Amino acid sequence: MPTAACRLLILALGARSVRTILALLAILAALVGSPSAGLAQTVGFAQVGSESDWRRTFTASVMHEAAARAIDLMLFNAEGDPGRQVAAVRDFIRQGVDAIVIAPVVLSGWTDVLEEAKTAAIPVFIVDRAVDADPSLYVARIAANFNLEGKLAAAWLAQESRGRCSILELEGTAGSAAAVERKRGFAAIIAEFPDMRVVGATAGNFTRAGGRAAMERLLADRGQGPPLCAVFAHNDDMMFGAIEAMTAVGLEPGRRPLTVSVDAVEPARQAVEAGILNATVELKADIGGEIFDVVQAYLKGRRDFPKWIVIASDLHVKRP
Ligand code: AHR
Repeated sequence: MPTAACRLLILALGARSVRTILALLAILAALVGSPSAGLAQTVGFAQVGSESDWRRTFTASVMHEAAARAIDLMLFNAEGDPGRQVAAVRDFIRQGVDAIVIAPVVLSGWTDVLEEAKTAAIPVFIVDRAVDADPSLYVARIAANFNLEGKLAAAWLAQESRGRCSILELEGTAGSAAAVERKRGFAAIIAEFPDMRVVGATAGNFTRAGGRAAMERLLADRGQGPPLCAVFAHNDDMMFGAIEAMTAVGLEPGRRPLTVSVDAVEPARQAVEAGILNATVELKADIGGEIFDVVQAYLKGRRDFPKWIVIASDLHVKRP
């Protein structure tokens, strides 16, 4: 029985007047025949954390959209911990929510809990990062193409450097779809240019502090190596940290080395206009509406969703 119906049943049991009881039972009968119709839907949302500007904007979009649609949103911030995130999904199942939305920290480790949701007949929607579990265990994934984002960044760099470039790469969280696919897409394009090479790469966990520390390590490892042509960061926050580290040792990010990252959050767009960041690939953050359109259509009975509902990506460079 959907949670909304359970709540009604409790109300009916506690009501004093016969008329109230009959009215509540009539609504209850309609609800049981048509799950989730009529009353607020309860949606559990297991979010990655709040590691980046993009992530915080995305959470705000989901909260805003849930409120606008009178959805009862149970938001869990996993703070980057995959184990806590799985436990939170298990808790949503125990509480009998109407639907579960997951932005997974990492790709793997999802099969068991997704099977539990399926057994409990609770639909699951994957958003943002992917899972490597069997797609039959969730309704759909609503997300951008991270591989294409890596390709767009590399294609811009290939053109800008005329195909000759020594690159440092700042990677996102190990095992996350965003880091795995951005790296893969970037590498696929670079491989077409014999004089383009990633000469150093390390993880900065998608945070500004992580990006700064990663860049300090990479610069120290390089010592007096050949001049650096570019830095590719898997997100804007890490790039901002890297810019601090580069500036501290006298480099001029945006000139030498060139800088390209992903997300296109507002401060990054400003940095592009200021010439400190050369390009950023947009990962749309305001997607609460797209997500709840799918969740609510499913709860109303629609079933013909594509497995991957793609959110478009876009390259931002300085305005002419
Ligand atoms: O999964 C998307 C990535 O996660 C964003 O690019 C990054 O900013 C966030 O932390």
